Amino acid sequence: MYRRGLAAVVLVFAGAVVASLPSASAHDDKGPIVIGHRGASAYRPEHTLASYELAARMGADFIEPDLVSTKDGKLVARHENEIGGTTDVSARLEFKDRQKTKVVDGTPLTGWFTEDFTLAELKTLRAKERIPAIRPRNTLYDGRFEIPTFQEVIDLSKRLSRELHREIGIYPETKHPTYFQSIGLALEPKLLDALNKNGLNRRNAKVYVQSFEVANLKQLNKSLRVPLIQLVNGSGAPYDFIVAGDKRTYADLVTPAGLREVRSYADGVGVTKDLIIPRDAAGYLKQPTNLVKDAHEVGLTVHSWTFRNENSFLPADFRSSADPAAYGRAFEEYDLFYKTGLDGVFADNPDTAIEAKVKR
Ligand code: G3P
Ligand code: CA
Repeated sequence: MYRRGLAAVVLVFAGAVVASLPSASAHDDKGPIVIGHRGASAYRPEHTLASYELAARMGADFIEPDLVSTKDGKLVARHENEIGGTTDVSARLEFKDRQKTKVVDGTPLTGWFTEDFTLAELKTLRAKERIPAIRPRNTLYDGRFEIPTFQEVIDLSKRLSRELHREIGIYPETKHPTYFQSIGLALEPKLLDALNKNGLNRRNAKVYVQSFEVANLKQLNKSLRVPLIQLVNGSGAPYDFIVAGDKRTYADLVTPAGLREVRSYADGVGVTKDLIIPRDAAGYLKQPTNLVKDAHEVGLTVHSWTFRNENSFLPADFRSSADPAAYGRAFEEYDLFYKTGLDGVFADNPDTAIEAKVKR
């Protein structure tokens, strides 16, 4: 979409001209957008329809399904293909023999994997809270909700858009794309098909597509008209780079030159908070980097993750006590990050992220 025309401008004109271009985001006319991270995952087990629905009802602009594949090639919402930590599968005797050890993105893992279950089998499982020690109240909902398909997430966003009289966007992420390609269950054709079938592969659809890998975003750029977001971690390298022997790291993607390269195939970056305001070894915030400015100068939108209210996840500056599960001074963190000029936040507590935008 827009990136193609803009990429040509970037190549032709020097930085001063590019700096005057608007951000690529079409959804941020009331300040930074709020993306319900895995739904409203501070309040419900993540990646369930209940979690997404709560996020939308709290006012989130987007809901965020991470996508993996079933054995029969259906896209379902899970943060990773190993589902021992977020479902009741380990207690299900009928699936005892499905426990396996695999290497995913170079890391050995033992557990139960979505690609070893048909959708019908996965639908018999129930979601549970990932971090019960931090979010014990969420365990109230353990056992209540199914693993949703991507189509069910889309259907929910459409239903809630009608009911709430505002469009609830979707922000799908391809999880472990190289891995799923390697086992014959590529995510990208299914994602493209789902967006096409639902009338969402169009320029003004309220959709972002995100990936921690590069090659699949470049491939998707050829067929998707919605904005693409390059996810950038604080360390390491995109797994497709590692497989291809490309020595570049995530750090290389967020240099001015790296950002210009990202702009040739994507519309924005989705970066860990530490790349915008780093922390020292004790967890205290340091000075902001130039990342937001540098990204905007080449026309990239900047979204950042992950904003959470608990002390466990907050910078040391804003912790309220030594209790990792207690809420800290989350508004102060939002204030600082909103002042950097970023365009969106992935928030486990979408209500807090929205309230933080209100000037008091
Ligand atoms: O996709 C943005 C953010 O969600 C990346 O982190 O690991 O929660 O998918 P993760
Ligand atoms: Ca994600």
